[in-house]
Amino acid sequence: MANVKTKWVCQSCGYETPKYMGKCPECSSWGSFVEETLSVSATKNAVQVADAGEASKITEVFVDKTIRLSTGFEEFDRVLGGGTVTGSVVLLAGDPGIGKSTLVLQTANSVAKADKKVLYICAEESAGQVKLRAERLGVNSDNIFIYSQTDLENIKAQIEKLSPDFLIIDSIQAIYDNGISSGAGSVSQIRECTNILTDIAKRKNITTIIIGHVTKDGNIAGPRVLEHMVDVVLSFEGDKYKTYRILRSIKNRFGSTTEIGIFNMCENGLKEISNPNELFISERSIAVTPGSTIIMANEGSRVLTAEIQALVGTTAYPAPRRVTNGIDYNRLLQILAVIEKRVGIKFNTADVYVNITGGIEIDEPAADLGIALAIITCAQDVVVSNDTIILGEIGLSGEIRKINNLEKRITEAQKLGFKKVIIPKNNLSDKNNYSVQIVEVERITDAIVAAVNPK
Ligand code: TYD
Ligand code: MG
Repeated sequence: MANVKTKWVCQSCGYETPKYMGKCPECSSWGSFVEETLSVSATKNAVQVADAGEASKITEVFVDKTIRLSTGFEEFDRVLGGGTVTGSVVLLAGDPGIGKSTLVLQTANSVAKADKKVLYICAEESAGQVKLRAERLGVNSDNIFIYSQTDLENIKAQIEKLSPDFLIIDSIQAIYDNGISSGAGSVSQIRECTNILTDIAKRKNITTIIIGHVTKDGNIAGPRVLEHMVDVVLSFEGDKYKTYRILRSIKNRFGSTTEIGIFNMCENGLKEISNPNELFISERSIAVTPGSTIIMANEGSRVLTAEIQALVGTTAYPAPRRVTNGIDYNRLLQILAVIEKRVGIKFNTADVYVNITGGIEIDEPAADLGIALAIITCAQDVVVSNDTIILGEIGLSGEIRKINNLEKRITEAQKLGFKKVIIPKNNLSDKNNYSVQIVEVERITDAIVAAVNPK
């Protein structure tokens, strides 16, 4: 027993203490401590470091320029910053059933076709189940090895034996290390297993994708402790009732975290959607209705069309309701305040709902004017024509402020066949470069005149 240490670990944030506590001082959750034993051999294992090596001058560090490997999906590659980096560890997080296993299996297929050896650890399913899915996805390559296993020791042995170039762990919550007393999925298990796998990936130069489930509140289960251990954290999101999925980068040591990739879940797997613009406005009714506008939003290195819908109605409550979906709640309150003061429409007895269709989230101020016009047109029962794009940030005095990336947004609008773009004054250096009609506006009241058509 002399070799055994015990500690109490908060299962929600990973805080450790030698004694039991009712409330976690770190994350304030109650009753979240679980006693865990860590044998000394496991501790040694976890802190095992690669060769001591020598420090070298940065100018002399050798970097192989061809270390990026394509996943077979342009969308996935872009989110990763141009493909996976050899020896990097990627954490792919998402709700159960969103399509994580599908995405990695299809990726495995492309990697295998590039003559790389892939080891797929299916800790949640039997090899047979994975095979069935593989058949449906048309995945068949002798380079893919499936191993249904949950014990980390066996997984390590298999990695030694096969020496894969690409390793997939599906999922980290289902595997366990014998040296740790708590069950699979506990904070200590997830942390130790990730630690050991990361170590192997770096030492043996194996590109590793670790799948992790997220908890109900959207955190990666087995808390944030995981996030700083890996190189890239991706979140795979989607609407349960829609077939498209969004891959978002949360942390990326090798690329930007503003990128998103869009996929469609079809009969036989995920298909990438390279031009998502049509997707987001495809459901827009042909006959324009009051309370609907279209904007061009920045998402990573590209621009997306998004439809904003607003509904303004008499309230049945003492305090009128403000409901937002896809935009910031406080931003809506500010826009409403500006409209009240500068346009003169009162909302003190009106409920206001604002929704971005398609389930995307927009947090840039460039959407302000589009939101304001959706609200105003609904309140006044007028319409903005559906070939018009509205761009601009609104200041508190009702002025329309400049936005970034304007040229790109206008070019995209033009490409998609829109006829008119409403933009902030003095934002664009050369209006004559475009074939669409460009209308510059200085104040919110000008924008109403410029955008609104008689119904
Ligand atoms: P899966 O990849 O198993 O999700 P996760 O690993 O994130 O839990 O995918 C689950 C869902 O995807 C399932 O509800 C069925 C659906 N699906 C398709 O629509 N088409 C397909 O080709 C496949 C493989 C799955
Ligand atoms: Mg799965």
